[in-house]
Amino acid sequence: MSGREKNYPLIGKDTEAGGEWSSDTALLCAAAETSSPSCRPWRLWQRTLLWLSGSRKSSLKRWTTVVVTLILIISGYLLLTSPRSILQPVPPESVFRCSNTKSTVPSEHKRSPEGVAVTTQLRIDPKVLLFTETQHSRRGRAIAELLVANKIKYKIEVIGKSLPLLTNLSKGKYGAVVFENFERYLVMDTWNRELLDKYLVEYNVGMVGFLPPHEETVVGAKIKGFPLYVHTNMALENVTLNAENPVLRLTRSGDTLWGEAPGTDWTIFSTNHSTYEALELAVPRVPHYTKEKLITAVLDKGKYDGICRVLFGYDLKFWLHNLLFLDAISYLSRGKLSLSLDRYILVDIDDIFVGHKGTRMTVEDVEALLAAQKRLRDLVPGWRFNLGFSGKYFKSGYPDENLGDEALLQNVEHFWWFGHMWGHTQPHKFNSTEALESVMQMNKQFAKTYGIPTDSGYSVAPHHSGVYPVHEQLYDAWKKVWNIRVTSTEEYPHLRPARLRRGFIHRKIMVLPRQTCGLYTHTVFIDKFPGGRQVLEKSIHGGELFQTIVYNPISIFMTHLSNYGNDRLAIYTFESVIKFLKCWTNLNLMTVPPLQLGEKYFHMFPDEEEPIWGNPCLDRRHRDIWATSKMCEQLPKFLVIGPQKTGTTALYTFLSMHPAISSNYPSPETFEEVQFFNGRNYAKGIDWYMKFFPLSQNSSSKYLFEKSATYFDGELVPRRVKGLLPSSRLVTIIIPPSKRAYSWYHHMRAHNDITALNYSFNDVITATDKAPRPLRDLRNKCLNPGMYAKHIERWLDYFPSTQLSIIDGESLRNNPVDVMNRLQRFLKIRPFFNYTEHLRFDKKKGFFCQVTEEDKTKCLGRGKGRQYPPMTEVEEKLLRDYYQPHNVVLEKLLTRLNYPVPVWLLEDLASS
Ligand code: A3P
Repeated sequence: MSGREKNYPLIGKDTEAGGEWSSDTALLCAAAETSSPSCRPWRLWQRTLLWLSGSRKSSLKRWTTVVVTLILIISGYLLLTSPRSILQPVPPESVFRCSNTKSTVPSEHKRSPEGVAVTTQLRIDPKVLLFTETQHSRRGRAIAELLVANKIKYKIEVIGKSLPLLTNLSKGKYGAVVFENFERYLVMDTWNRELLDKYLVEYNVGMVGFLPPHEETVVGAKIKGFPLYVHTNMALENVTLNAENPVLRLTRSGDTLWGEAPGTDWTIFSTNHSTYEALELAVPRVPHYTKEKLITAVLDKGKYDGICRVLFGYDLKFWLHNLLFLDAISYLSRGKLSLSLDRYILVDIDDIFVGHKGTRMTVEDVEALLAAQKRLRDLVPGWRFNLGFSGKYFKSGYPDENLGDEALLQNVEHFWWFGHMWGHTQPHKFNSTEALESVMQMNKQFAKTYGIPTDSGYSVAPHHSGVYPVHEQLYDAWKKVWNIRVTSTEEYPHLRPARLRRGFIHRKIMVLPRQTCGLYTHTVFIDKFPGGRQVLEKSIHGGELFQTIVYNPISIFMTHLSNYGNDRLAIYTFESVIKFLKCWTNLNLMTVPPLQLGEKYFHMFPDEEEPIWGNPCLDRRHRDIWATSKMCEQLPKFLVIGPQKTGTTALYTFLSMHPAISSNYPSPETFEEVQFFNGRNYAKGIDWYMKFFPLSQNSSSKYLFEKSATYFDGELVPRRVKGLLPSSRLVTIIIPPSKRAYSWYHHMRAHNDITALNYSFNDVITATDKAPRPLRDLRNKCLNPGMYAKHIERWLDYFPSTQLSIIDGESLRNNPVDVMNRLQRFLKIRPFFNYTEHLRFDKKKGFFCQVTEEDKTKCLGRGKGRQYPPMTEVEEKLLRDYYQPHNVVLEKLLTRLNYPVPVWLLEDLASS
């Protein structure tokens, strides 16, 4: 019998068991020894069995090889279909325990410390007065940044010879005074020191001081003039707080911060005087130095010299000092500079179905999320995760992850939900509202199919696209499909610095600032956290994340699906930071739905409702999420800002004659003027504004400009122009202010303004504050723009004088060619245009006019260069006196800016 024959029964047995070949096929193939294709698998199998048989030793070896290969194949398959079924990591758990679990009542800082009677008053919104060593000192900047992050107003004063004004109309301007270097206070000249101390005593306002590091070590040195001693250059550890100290309000004495305090140059305080009470304590790192706790921050209760102070032996690099500093400011201002202790936190999961295979959630992850939500709700009333969804990616993971998606939907009612796009596409890539609507509709349909609520009124956009910079189509589609009333972004005004992030309202949609928590789609495993796990731990335990929640009354955080699978980093992060917050602060943490958050936000910060539009081309992130059809070349390079009736139309016309200059398209309502930066048009956004400017192939070589004469005196205009056109040049014209007022009055009459028709010019300029409202309004509009210096100074608060050109309107009228030549040089416009050939004096009109191709003159319309009787002498005198102080300042300003003083100004000043 051949070897093959010997094996027949074996084959038959196996095929029966495996059912792969019928015994008929086997017999047929064996018997016929056929080479037909149907017999090929049978032959392969047969050969394998032959290979496996043989001597006992070699057969064992071969069987081992087969088993190992099979294990490898199966593991490979499992790994491919669901890697986590084999490599399931153990997610980190938040194990932080606070040693002080007693409930604490935060101090009330409203009363005067130690019951001092207060007779004097602070302003309603006092500021912090911050004395720094230089304009750019590091510690001074850190203090200012902390104040900005907490939206506390302040004034920086570089310590020098004089003090700023401390009072205004007998009200105290400053609620607390801060010295970045307390030693500079100690060596202040007697006069200033007495003035400052007097203010502090009278207004019962206190001082914060930081003791600077010293190169030399001093031991037990007395602080000049105080019963207080210091010891410098200490290395410390195990910091604690004195729970009894009345300064503690936001800060809670929760624990001992075991371990080294940062730095080795701390100053410690010692004293026997009862005015001092320890605020913060620590022990020296050097063993056996002393067993006593050393005072590292101290409260002076004012019993010694009537002034309360909080002194720090180390600066804000130590995280706890940031909190203590805020408490000190609150305490020393008697609560006037106190922050609310309410903190709202909302965690978005954006979005719950978008994530790569292997990073998504399984059923266990969903259960863990639900369990975490329950635990978090015990710490933060109302806690609920806010889940964003793009239906297209539902069940796009491994099989066990798809079950996770299903589990989420089985628990729909346990979460809040908000609709996204359908396929996570960026809205700015859609040019039409309809296209956006249709993808949103698909997602809405998905929500309906799976019973997901669609009425949260909240949404966010992938990568912040379309929210800011605003893509109007997104706002339209959001309103139509989802009735969105609130959204959030990290991009307004910019991602960094985070402390400057703000909210705004556009087309009735509230845009809230969103905060970053350090978790991104790729932060899946704690050990792979960028920079190492310690980076995340630091952020949680007093670092960035912790401070974000402390400083922002409302924090909306963005997390991602991948932060809830695998290591469930988001659960770990938020549970940990909240426990740490509960331990070290007295904050009332809460969660409410987004709509309520929006209402609360703008109730707290009504000043933020109006946006300041920025230039998308000046922020790379913004440019990336701005429609490619929009270009910054479509924005003007210079503006003629007015004021009205100074010859702005003539200047506009002359500029438009230049072949390299293009003006805006006319507006149906305001004709040649766009009037964007003042009034209601600004709310229409920059897409609206840009439509007024041509975008031709060679537009970058064109100098686009617009002229709106009311920009000059608009309170908000310089700030807004700075936001959108920071490098634009500005052109203003000044003529005798009385002449301007009179021209304006006649302009209003010509436009049938009822008040101007009803009252004489004399009535208008002599109207008092008791006059009827329309008359008062007319008076203000007539006279205000002529206070030139005041308005120019406001522009100079935002723009350097090198960007501003001030034209004498009388020169423009009498010698326009010279003016236009100078202006071309100022605007750096090429090619140079020879106005001599293009402007000619028209005797009939009495003004210079445009020369047409037919060599005729084309003058401005009847509305420019009007005929009206001259002002009376009385009116002239009245106005000369009225503008005299403003003209004095104007003359000084022009001299400072190196402008020649116009003849009319010299004459006005001489005759008043
Ligand atoms: P009046 O009409 O009161 O004389 P604006 O264009 O800013 O509204 O200013 C109008 C004023 O520009 C006119 O005021 C007129 O005096 C002055 N102006 C200066 N140059 C002019 C010009 N070439 N043609 C017409 N008006 C001119």
